[in-house]
Amino acid sequence: MNNMKISALAAMLIGVSATAVSAQMVDPTTPPASPKFEAQGEPVFVKRSDIFEFMALDNYNEPDFVKAFVDAGKLPLVAERLPKEPMVYKSSNMPDGIGNYGGVMRHVIGGRPEGWNFWGGQSQGWGGIDIGLTECLTRTGPLFEVDPSDLEPLPNLAKGWEWSEDGKTLTVHLIEGAKWSDGDPFDTEDIDFYWNDIVMDPEVTPLMGASQGTYSNANLEIVDASTFKMTFDTAFPEQVLYAMAYGNFCPGPSHVLKPAHPKYGGESYESFRNAFPPEQLGFPVMGAWGVVEYRPDDVIVLRRNPYYWKVDSDGNQLPYLDEMHYRLSTWADRDVQAVAGTGDFSNLEQAENYVEALRRSAEADAPARLAFGPRTIGYSVLPNLSANGWGTPDERGHAVRELNRDLNFRKAISTALDRERLGNSLVKGPFTAIYPGGLYAGTSFYDEASTVYYPYSVETAKHYFEEAGLVDTDGNGFVNFPADVMGGEDVNMTLLAQSDYSTDKNLAEGFVAIMEEAGLKVTLNLLPGKDYDDARYSGRFDWHVYRNTSEMITVVQNTTQLAPVGDTTALQHRANDAGEMDLLPWEQEMADTVNAFIASRDAAERIDLMKQYQKLHTENLYSVGLTAYPGALIINKRFANIPAGAPIFMYNWAEDNIIRERVYVPTDAQPGYELHPGTLPSPEGPVTAG
Ligand code: GLA
Repeated sequence: MNNMKISALAAMLIGVSATAVSAQMVDPTTPPASPKFEAQGEPVFVKRSDIFEFMALDNYNEPDFVKAFVDAGKLPLVAERLPKEPMVYKSSNMPDGIGNYGGVMRHVIGGRPEGWNFWGGQSQGWGGIDIGLTECLTRTGPLFEVDPSDLEPLPNLAKGWEWSEDGKTLTVHLIEGAKWSDGDPFDTEDIDFYWNDIVMDPEVTPLMGASQGTYSNANLEIVDASTFKMTFDTAFPEQVLYAMAYGNFCPGPSHVLKPAHPKYGGESYESFRNAFPPEQLGFPVMGAWGVVEYRPDDVIVLRRNPYYWKVDSDGNQLPYLDEMHYRLSTWADRDVQAVAGTGDFSNLEQAENYVEALRRSAEADAPARLAFGPRTIGYSVLPNLSANGWGTPDERGHAVRELNRDLNFRKAISTALDRERLGNSLVKGPFTAIYPGGLYAGTSFYDEASTVYYPYSVETAKHYFEEAGLVDTDGNGFVNFPADVMGGEDVNMTLLAQSDYSTDKNLAEGFVAIMEEAGLKVTLNLLPGKDYDDARYSGRFDWHVYRNTSEMITVVQNTTQLAPVGDTTALQHRANDAGEMDLLPWEQEMADTVNAFIASRDAAERIDLMKQYQKLHTENLYSVGLTAYPGALIINKRFANIPAGAPIFMYNWAEDNIIRERVYVPTDAQPGYELHPGTLPSPEGPVTAG
């Protein structure tokens, strides 16, 4: 006999009313305090202008082997390759000062490159490879060290911008005279193509899903070769500047992409997407390194971009590192190799690996440094809240969506969830914290009093299942649909999760087991990264396990993802094929709150709006939090200029946060890891000066 039945029976026997039974229910409260976990290394806050400036220097330097290309007449002079005013990193902000050339960084990644067409929607395999190949109009990764009073995105390809007086026009100035890695000028032709033929073309979905909504429904107009304007219906939508950072406004080389686009003679959208396969070497980049070798399931090798547009304050063209490797392996292997010293870098984020990684890193001869940061790695399960056809559900799917839209059902799931056990099943110790969902504890917009937590109580869950009309009518231990829905069969909810990460898999399996104990049948749909993304972006799930992105930490980045403010901004609720949304009243309120936040420039009002948001989100269980824990950056000890307190994840991943173009290996510490010495990337593969 289960607990609910026992208490119902007891109530009958002693003749108390049903209300007295429900008094055993556990009420929502604020979340329990997280176990103390000190981050190792705090960032030293600086102003944005302390990091770099755009200016012309008298002299520029380059590595000797690149100079040999110039001497052989194969490259223009370095001063001609650089923009008029390159980005100049200030040595005062470099943790170890001006660096030297040479050196290799060996990454290991779990993804695989589909091709180089990020703009057509292709992934390069993650783990920092796309972060290094593309450069974006603004940059946010390094903001972890920016003084909160000076918080605004860093300029990057956009060297400046200004708002009109009414705040409805944003004028953006690009860096002038910068070039792609093949020497073609970077200018507003690239912006024009990105905007009109990627973002605004309904047939194209760029990798991270940027749409007009991402940019507060801007209209974009080119002014001249280095200037464009965006106009808005609302005043000062400053989130747009964050949206211009990594993931979104990172333009591609229009001179190469355009001819493959169907509007300009390309065969089809499908052929456009696949026009630049991984085998194609030397695809033009604005990033510090370009591809010179690809061996499937083995390695991708990148060499320095001779046209890179950033220098240090001594005029040395960046990057310092000549070569980058991306070993094509698994995410778990990234941790193992970084700790063992056969790889150089890992974001330690799969909690199952913590104990072993910590043990080895504590040894005196450990090849890598390991430093924990704030608790910003977190997982949630997200309900599909669309009842009007997003993802074309079948009859069962429809019935589950209707349940998902019932707060009682979501409360049942949250109260059925033993989060402590789930967290401890990943790793024991002070790492994991109970996470109710919504903004993370310890982040700047978090407010405990506005956070509603539905604690674990199987009895309470049973009560909520009943309130949602779900009872175990056939006595097999699982709740059934009401008789008039799906023939009254067992409710069977599918849970989509990604199979590339052990943590995602373990959490999903734990969730299934815990739900079964509470009487809800859940079927797991485990898919590899790419298929998982396709399924969740197109709404083919009942619930899905989600590793949260930066909006839950920073609020100001990915702000539009906090609520269904546009047709495609939310992960739990998107428009159907006809472009219609069917928001529940509280979802609408959440969206209005987020829009008000975006429209407000008043700090106190913004804080207040985020309190309202957090309340709406957590009280209504827009997402059901699973666990949150700190991640650690593992980096080989030979690297210099790694900023203190660089978190593995905040505005962006550590691959961006540590500013890799400034990282170097002191000359006397360079082992012979180079695979393509003396070469530069080109469309013909690696080329040498001789
Ligand atoms: C994957 C990894 C992260 C990080 C990102 C970078 O998602 O899991 O740790 O490396 O790629 O895009």
